[in-house]
Amino acid sequence: MCGIVGVLSNNEAAPQLVEALKRLEYRGYDSAGIATVHEKRLDRRREVGKLVNLSDKLVHEPLAGKVGIGHTRWATHGAPSVGNAHPHRAGRVAVVHNGIIENYRELRAELAELGVPFQTETDTETVALLCEHYLATGLGPQDAATATIARLEGAFALCFIFDGEEDLLIAARLGSPLAIGHGDGEMFIGSDAIALAPMTNRITYLEEGDRAEITRAGATIYDHSGTLANREIREVNLAHTQVEKGGHKHFMAKEIHEQPAVLADCLKTYISNNAITLPEPFDFTGIDRIIMVACGTAHIACTVAKYWFEQLARLPVEVDIASEFRYREPPIQTRTATIFVSQSGETADTLAALRYCKDKAQSVLSVVNVPESSIARESDVSFPIHAGVEVGVASTKAFTNQLAVLMSLAITAARQRGAIDAAREAELVGQFAHVPGLINQALGLSGHISDLSRKLATASDILFLGRGSMYPMAHEGALKLKEISYIHAEAYASGELKHGPIALVEETLPVVVLAPRDALFDKTVSNMQEVMARKGMVLLVSDAAGITQAGDDVWATIQMPDVDPIFAPLVYVVPAQLLAYHTAVHKGTDVDQPRNLAKSVTVE
Ligand code: F6R
Repeated sequence: MCGIVGVLSNNEAAPQLVEALKRLEYRGYDSAGIATVHEKRLDRRREVGKLVNLSDKLVHEPLAGKVGIGHTRWATHGAPSVGNAHPHRAGRVAVVHNGIIENYRELRAELAELGVPFQTETDTETVALLCEHYLATGLGPQDAATATIARLEGAFALCFIFDGEEDLLIAARLGSPLAIGHGDGEMFIGSDAIALAPMTNRITYLEEGDRAEITRAGATIYDHSGTLANREIREVNLAHTQVEKGGHKHFMAKEIHEQPAVLADCLKTYISNNAITLPEPFDFTGIDRIIMVACGTAHIACTVAKYWFEQLARLPVEVDIASEFRYREPPIQTRTATIFVSQSGETADTLAALRYCKDKAQSVLSVVNVPESSIARESDVSFPIHAGVEVGVASTKAFTNQLAVLMSLAITAARQRGAIDAAREAELVGQFAHVPGLINQALGLSGHISDLSRKLATASDILFLGRGSMYPMAHEGALKLKEISYIHAEAYASGELKHGPIALVEETLPVVVLAPRDALFDKTVSNMQEVMARKGMVLLVSDAAGITQAGDDVWATIQMPDVDPIFAPLVYVVPAQLLAYHTAVHKGTDVDQPRNLAKSVTVE
């Protein structure tokens, strides 16, 4: 997905670029690089691997200059290597890019016919070469960049600097986010405002198709038709963007342990006087169904919420994966609300699905963590989840707060539609308010879960089972485990076991069963017996009553606090997260930056 940054500073650019890149490293960490212009000369440094490798290189090979661009890469075209790392340079121009240039092969062929030599397989080098080609025809930097951008198809955020130009950055956005930061006689560019937090909180968000010519005096912005555009400068609240581990070994551990506090913060916004109060009103009586769309963990949050909307509000819900939804182009009936869920608010597929629904004149709601994100800004109504910055690539606290906001929407829908009365709402809200405390109790199981995880770390496959709303939670447990421990894990609805996956069960297969003692518990116990009869190692996550009823044949148990079944996903997520976390720690994998992943998926 890549993070990009640019500075027109009054101080040395390199340290500012590296600091900003540190805040963008969640977007990719395959390689990093910076370029500056100093005494009219363009120069660059690039290194494979994490940003720290680039910082080390800069100690031995410093880069002077007050104007510069930087990049942290998540490889799309071409393997992670110094040669493929950004900034890409061609003659007098250097460029950093986030996104994918879809027509780069045609552009390459065109340039190859003109005899232009290529050094890399990347789409971004094509951008630099095309711009240099236009410079060679006699165009100035602004016109050459404009001509280049006009030829590009796909999704991109771009930033250019030029040999001889120490007061010029050119930036463009189509499909990938880009923020301009306004300092005092200094200007900045970043993939998000958080990258720019140490420098400024005065931000202009570029809109789709915008191109900006930036000097220390300010930014001149043109829209997709080349017309001068007036874009607002906002003061963004970046107070909570501290990226520290707070005494924990990993950001993921910190974020798991923050859940009681961030959930309580979120509930303060959504609960008052024993009732749910949405920060913005929405009328659920005017609709007959909901479509929820998201990716990854956010998609799992939607599948949990389906149970809530259907059970509490008797509203039918369809849940879809954004990358499928957007290309299937489903017909959408009238009286439908569409809800898009995203931590980053920038996920390319989710954003495209949202735009599809907007084009169909649907009412578009979103549930997001980053309030200034594209998904939040393009929704009719956006509900913030107040989880604070999430740095660990594996989403934890954002998932929990997504669930909390979705539960708030489900209770609101139930009340508005007459499916529950004020007394039932007050009862639900009372239980809701206890959830942060229950999560806290579940966090107390971390040591025990770490002991169990030692064994899981030796497994090559792990099965997760659950029924009802524990079925999506089984998916969340399996996804988290795969992501950070690289152990193959699958999730099944317990009832599906004997329709295929039971063939996998043998002595060495750990089977994690998420099963609070609810109305479906007896059925789950039967499925567990089927696993144990085939010598599978059952790890039962349940409450005291459930564990007693399950008997002694299980391999191990995690005894959870009692929780009303409807709120159980919010509490049972904790052992799912901790199992993944401790297993990864025992395996020694890179918990916060697992291989091949990036946090903000701004390419499809
Ligand atoms: C998994 C994870 C991803 C994200 C997915 C969507 O731990 O973090 O699956 O949930 O990439 O990202 P957002 O929520 O930013 O749209």
